[in-house]
Amino acid sequence: MQLALATMQELLTEKIHTRTAKVGVIGLGYVGLPLAVEFANAGFSVTGIDVQASKVAELNAGRSYIQDVPTETVRQHVESGHLRASTDFSVIADLDTVNIAVPTPLRKTKDPDMSFVVVAAERVAEYMHPGMLIILESTTYPGTTEELLLPMFEKSGLKAGEDFFLCFSPERVDPGNPQYRTRNIPKVVGGITRACTGMGALFYSQAHENVVPVSSTSVAEMVKLLENTFRMINIGLVNELAIMCERMGVNVWEVIDAAATKPFGFMPFYPGPGLGGHCIPIDPFYLSWKSKQTGVEARFIELAGFINGQMPRFVVDKVQTALNSQAKPLLGAHVHIAGVAYKRDIDDLRESPALDIILLLEQKGARVTYTDPYIPSLRLDGHGLSSVNLDESAAAADCVVIVTDHKAFDHASLVDNAKLIVDTRNALKSYHSSKIVRL
Ligand SMILES: NC(=O)c1ccc[n+]([C@@H]2O[C@H](COP(=O)([O-])OP(=O)(O)OC[C@H]3O[C@@H](n4cnc5c(N)ncnc54)[C@H](O)[C@@H]3O)[C@@H](O)[C@H]2O)c1
Repeated sequence: MQLALATMQELLTEKIHTRTAKVGVIGLGYVGLPLAVEFANAGFSVTGIDVQASKVAELNAGRSYIQDVPTETVRQHVESGHLRASTDFSVIADLDTVNIAVPTPLRKTKDPDMSFVVVAAERVAEYMHPGMLIILESTTYPGTTEELLLPMFEKSGLKAGEDFFLCFSPERVDPGNPQYRTRNIPKVVGGITRACTGMGALFYSQAHENVVPVSSTSVAEMVKLLENTFRMINIGLVNELAIMCERMGVNVWEVIDAAATKPFGFMPFYPGPGLGGHCIPIDPFYLSWKSKQTGVEARFIELAGFINGQMPRFVVDKVQTALNSQAKPLLGAHVHIAGVAYKRDIDDLRESPALDIILLLEQKGARVTYTDPYIPSLRLDGHGLSSVNLDESAAAADCVVIVTDHKAFDHASLVDNAKLIVDTRNALKSYHSSKIVRL
């Protein structure tokens, strides 16, 4: 066995060093596509695998469908043969490494939905071979790689750390952030054995500037959950502070900005209309679910989840109060939403609080329109809406609600045109007008 370990390790090490290892990425979404492109940039031959034929066809035609990945880069890699995509999992048999970056959503009961990971891992198990490096990147609860995936892969008779290498490495991509991209975000990686960690670290160091090896897959899984839980709880704290400040007549934004001048021991978080995206509203519940199984209630997570979940209603109450102060009922009012993406300058609508705000407003009898340069149309609760011109709609509406502070919005013109503005992002910080109501 010792000989086999040295042989497998040496072979794969050599292939990675010489960049002749054939790299595979399963799941070509917001995480998988940038990762695939980064390894193609490093000179590897990369095969992406996805169940969505449309994404595979786009990629093979040299086109990017992810905002942060330039089409020109994809085109060059496809033309040079460094990047290709397939819906056929049998290509795994020819790969040396496989990264799994498929969705990990929540079920309605807030329990982890591991079905995508399980299906992808089953396909890997079907085609895996000795000397392969397999890395899970999907965010998940501590223990997933060791308890769920390892038995699936070892069923073949191959042993992790000897015949193949198994790791977990959390993805930290921040869509829309031009400063931090896949390459320069430090990459944490933990393996089932030391040999696995070493192989994972060697692999990532080819395409990432800074690799952070940790002692186990569970530590690596927990790192991601700590990061996102830290953020979710701190946002919950400032959202609660915003609710308190409203009652006390204090400007919460001014409070946070002044507190942030402390050069140590304070990190600013900002209130908003509610959590959105694929990570912050979801990941902490992976931790609370696992924690409950060990007999520990994750009280901070539950509490922050409750407070953050109240924010869309808090925003709608603000709209109602602001309209009432102008002797206008919400029933029958025209409310225009500026920005529906879950955060600034991105085209992602997943879990966006704007959806809850629109539904709540409609339930209260308001007529709702929206503008979002990144989201041309959306569907919710059985009906569709299309993005309309901001200036015209702002002028026509009884109230404009800034839900997403896209840089493309012309704030001066908005303040000129609108009759009333509820600003949930402090986008109009430098404007002083009685028609602006801040969160
Ligand atoms: N989006 C982010 O900003 C972000 C950041 C960090 C971590 N993550 C985590 O990364 C993981 C992936 O997230 P994402 O945002 O890239 O999701 P995504 O929905 O954008 O992409 C996932 C892709 O996987 C494909 N897929 C689903 N099942 C598959 C299967 N069995 N085989 C092959 N492909 C399959 C889907 O078709 C889709 O293209 C999740 O666990 C998420 O929590 C996401």
